[in-house]
Amino acid sequence: METERGPGAGLRQRIFEVLEHGRRREPASRAADWLLVLLVLADVAATVAYTVPDIAASQGAALQLLDRICVSVFAVEYVGRIWTAPEHPLLRRRTPLSARLRFAATPLMVIDALALLPLVLELLFPRNELMLLTRLVRFLKLARYSPALATIGRLIASERRALLACVIIFIGALLAAAATMYAVEGSVQPDKLGDMPKAMWWAASMLAKIGGGDLAPPLTTLGRIIAAITVMLGIGCFALPVAIIGRGFYEEIRRRDFVVTFAMVARVPLFARLDAAAIVDLVAILRARTVPSGTTIIRKGERGDAMYLIASGRVQVESAAGSAVLEEGEFFGEMALLSREPRSATVTAVRPTDLLVLDANDFLRLVERLPDIGAKVRAVAKERRLAPVTNATGGTLGGNDGTRQ
Ligand code: CMP
Repeated sequence: METERGPGAGLRQRIFEVLEHGRRREPASRAADWLLVLLVLADVAATVAYTVPDIAASQGAALQLLDRICVSVFAVEYVGRIWTAPEHPLLRRRTPLSARLRFAATPLMVIDALALLPLVLELLFPRNELMLLTRLVRFLKLARYSPALATIGRLIASERRALLACVIIFIGALLAAAATMYAVEGSVQPDKLGDMPKAMWWAASMLAKIGGGDLAPPLTTLGRIIAAITVMLGIGCFALPVAIIGRGFYEEIRRRDFVVTFAMVARVPLFARLDAAAIVDLVAILRARTVPSGTTIIRKGERGDAMYLIASGRVQVESAAGSAVLEEGEFFGEMALLSREPRSATVTAVRPTDLLVLDANDFLRLVERLPDIGAKVRAVAKERRLAPVTNATGGTLGGNDGTRQ
């Protein structure tokens, strides 16, 4: 079902693009991002400063005003996002109300709502320390702007089996250390190790090495051996999840120079007719790469390992026959993947360019799974193979037709 397209629909679409990063490098989008990031940082700094009595006494009013301004902007931002939700390609088939409700339930929107919560609470209850905590939640709004943070949820979800195994190993080590210590020293130190809960607290402290002054030092030789083994087990228990998360984190950061959003992928003409589920899949497999002007992205004669979509910027294709320019929305690097021959041309960025990169295997799978896309890409590749590259600077060859709609 089409959603309402009243007189405000154009404006709504525009605001949606600005807020949801439909176009990378677009000045309005960037300005909005910077403004919101600065306000989040300013608000958090003001909240922290306000807890210092001297500062609160001298600058209290100014800090309060700053907080009010920040919160007002966040409120406008929230309302704007909710209002434009029906423009979200994933939600277009819903009624405006259901699209907005669904959008409001997404994790980032829940964070945005939590960021506004203190405003409501402050109106209902007098100031207290808990309020400070709720105000600091605003810091989480930055998740929207950090590719690494934005992917951490996905990371935990994808590594959940490995992480669950770590939890089980930890509990196993805890029980084993507690039970042996209870058996060996339970009667020697009944006040500290006399029952399993006490022994488990001891074991947990040893495993995490948080033992403070009240942690029972083992009194028997066997007890000391158990304590030493427990400490070593503890290192393993913590090193394992750190390694799992660390590796995944590193790979994600390397994969993504910027956050790939749904709106960004939906705007690529090649994917214009895809349904929402297919676009969600693409968001997960596309890598994001930003290259400065002058970077050679593809070298003639090399083996093809990926196809590139231009999210913003401009590249120049150069072969023996001449050169052509490809712009935002067009793609390149498909010929070597389809023909399994070496790259047919050298492609260089002539502006700072944001690329969405589809690895060869993902590309071949996509072409197989979505024959329409396969046909479009093949048609463009064929045309490019036949078309001699011209020297026209503004002209694009074999890129626009069939892909832009
Ligand atoms: P590939 O051969 O994998 O690597 C170089 C890329 O340049 C090629 O894929 C095409 O995507 C692109 N290319 C080659 N010839 C042309 C052309 N005539 N017009 C536009 N792009 C081209």
